[in-house]
Amino acid sequence: MRTQVGIIGAGPAGLLLAQLLAVRGIDSVVLENRSRDYVQARIRAGILEQGTVDLLTEAGVGERLHREGLRHDGIYLQRPGHREHLDFPGLCGRSVWAYGQTQVVKDLIDARLAAGQRIEFEISDTTLHDLDTDRPRVTYTDRAGFPQVLECDVVAGCDGYHGPSRRMLPPDLQQTWARDYPFAWLGILADVAPSTDELIYAWHPDGFALHSMRSPSVSRLYLQVDPHESLESWSDDRIWSELSHRLAFEDWQLQTGPITERSITPMRSFVSAPMRHGRLFLAGDAAHIVPPTGAKGLNLAVADVALLCEALAALLLHRRSELADAYSDAALRRVWRATHFSWWMTSMLHSTGDPFESQLQLSQLRYVTSSPAAAQSLAENYTGMPLH
Ligand code: APR
Ligand code: PHB
Repeated sequence: MRTQVGIIGAGPAGLLLAQLLAVRGIDSVVLENRSRDYVQARIRAGILEQGTVDLLTEAGVGERLHREGLRHDGIYLQRPGHREHLDFPGLCGRSVWAYGQTQVVKDLIDARLAAGQRIEFEISDTTLHDLDTDRPRVTYTDRAGFPQVLECDVVAGCDGYHGPSRRMLPPDLQQTWARDYPFAWLGILADVAPSTDELIYAWHPDGFALHSMRSPSVSRLYLQVDPHESLESWSDDRIWSELSHRLAFEDWQLQTGPITERSITPMRSFVSAPMRHGRLFLAGDAAHIVPPTGAKGLNLAVADVALLCEALAALLLHRRSELADAYSDAALRRVWRATHFSWWMTSMLHSTGDPFESQLQLSQLRYVTSSPAAAQSLAENYTGMPLH
């Protein structure tokens, strides 16, 4: 089989890259080792930067997002006795949207299959070859168990942190940076109307809490927990009472309801460079991981493929390699900005139990909610720097 761009991974990075390339008339094949149902059911984050919404709309997959997504003009930052709103349009002229990553992935898969374009689900033995030639190949075993060879001009490694692509970088060329945080997030989905119009990020001496949402009838909430905690030790009652305790503010009440999904996610920052080796280009979680506190994971994957699509269009349509040669450095500039912001939000909002640290965090929260300059900096980073 032959294509121009072999894309490994049907997450938001791989699927959006395929869609953007198709808009440019560039052919691709998406290879995914999980089933369609699994990929579409995976619960992940749900805040989209303005730039992400604009790009999804440009790519022709924004219709349901605009119909069902919720535009948010800010967030609330809370500490005991205080809940302050940051007005994003007032601070930086941009907003964000609450729309689940699960829905973004579903919209992209629907659009791709409706256009008769290829996604090979449930493949295995994915192996990359000849990346330092202009005829790289990906070999794999298809769903029916037959060995397959995909010949490409370029391979896009969009296969997440655990995928094979990043491991194809020669060790002497690769640099990695990592930070593991001493806490995790217990996340729930619940069939109850959100008790707030926009997200509440709450610092509390007993640990961070976040009230997010998926729709007017589905809430998404998170609790800071010890990374060694097990879900079994958290009954629904315990989850709801701890959420009410940490999010408490004056006479505001948290509405509770049936919990439909729960998970514990470790918190980690990870960056790998370079994001290109020969005809292999990495994007998304394949090259970097951010803790979810800054809502940057999905948006960073989108920013990578926005840059990569430009670079591949110039390379494949006009035989111009400048953008492709500059891709890794350009993408990493934004990756480090988002990595810093996510680390900063995580450090400001998660209780460590250290009294001195707690006073520093409270001072930071007082500052960022009272100084227009500090608030603007948060708003700029949270809503996302323009993609172009
Ligand atoms: N062969 C084929 N597909 C693979 C392989 C493989 N060997 N290994 C992994 N994959 C697939 C995974 O099953 C997954 O569907 O690659 C896809 C990678 O998708 P994501 O992990 O969603 O990564 P990405 O598209 O970069 O999106 C990043 O996802 O994890 C969130 O917070 C993160 O929001 C961010 C977004
Ligand atoms: C979510 O809605 O899942 C969400 C929102 C904001 C975050 C992280 C997760 O910072």
